[in-house]
Amino acid sequence: MKILVFTEKPFAPAAVKAIQNVIDAAGEDMRLVEREGHDTLIKEVKDADGLIVRSDIVDAEVIKAAENLKVIVRAGAGYDNIDLQAATNHGICVMNTPGQNSNAVAELVFGMIVMMCRNKYNGTSGSELKGKSLGIYAFGQVGRNVARIANGFGMDIKALDVFVPDEVMIEQGVTPVHDVKALFSENDYVSLHIPATPQTRNSIGYDLVVSMPKNGVLVNTARKEVIDEDGLLKALEERPDIRYVSDIKPDKYEEFEKRFADRVFFTPKKMGAQTAEANFNAGVAAAEQVIAYLRNGWNKFQVNK
Ligand code: 3PG
Repeated sequence: MKILVFTEKPFAPAAVKAIQNVIDAAGEDMRLVEREGHDTLIKEVKDADGLIVRSDIVDAEVIKAAENLKVIVRAGAGYDNIDLQAATNHGICVMNTPGQNSNAVAELVFGMIVMMCRNKYNGTSGSELKGKSLGIYAFGQVGRNVARIANGFGMDIKALDVFVPDEVMIEQGVTPVHDVKALFSENDYVSLHIPATPQTRNSIGYDLVVSMPKNGVLVNTARKEVIDEDGLLKALEERPDIRYVSDIKPDKYEEFEKRFADRVFFTPKKMGAQTAEANFNAGVAAAEQVIAYLRNGWNKFQVNK
């Protein structure tokens, strides 16, 4: 059977080798396509039985072109890049690899926070994280790693997640919060870890951001789609003390940079999971999951049930 590994943003070489080893050991064929876009995916997927992607768009057009496809594994957490309904309609199982890249994303949260509270290392006097408060929005795998690291910095940590019992947060030294307004208005730093869904799209905007305490910093390593960019621009205009860092450029990148250059930072591409370790863990898990599904229908992490 043919397994297509299609990643516009390539995995680290050691991860590619490890993925190849898993697929070779199962006696299947791997085809690696890197640094290519949607049109190439449509051509390459035609005879694939299994597909491994990262944030690559797998829409109805790709799925229609995939005549033999049985399983798609998104090597990573967020699967908003995959048309689940189209996959379900074609009898294709879609899985993600939860937890495999979460430490990498959490470490980037602090990389970006420290950079901002030291004024992008521009020689001026900055501030420390010890004793500051952090609000974590969604307490999944990434949120929990963020809390673990924040403990080391000596921060006062709170989190909001309607799907997680309070006890799980309390066990980790985190104070549960049950209201998004309180999460923003009571914390010096707010770190977003919500997925992009119809409910969360454009949900973080003017009212929440403008309510943040003096010198508040909003950190977004989730998805750009959860931000109401016009609302955020308005909040930054009104509150010259507030800063915004995001792991990926916003749609209105030029406007943010032009108007608020000193108070914003954006990675050029999504970099949260772009470490050797996360590539290895997520890539190998994806390869093992594709094989397990094709062999015996293993579908523990199926997201389109
Ligand atoms: C994820 O959802 O797992 C992260 O956003 C990583 O995405 P990437 O594989 O495109 O780096």
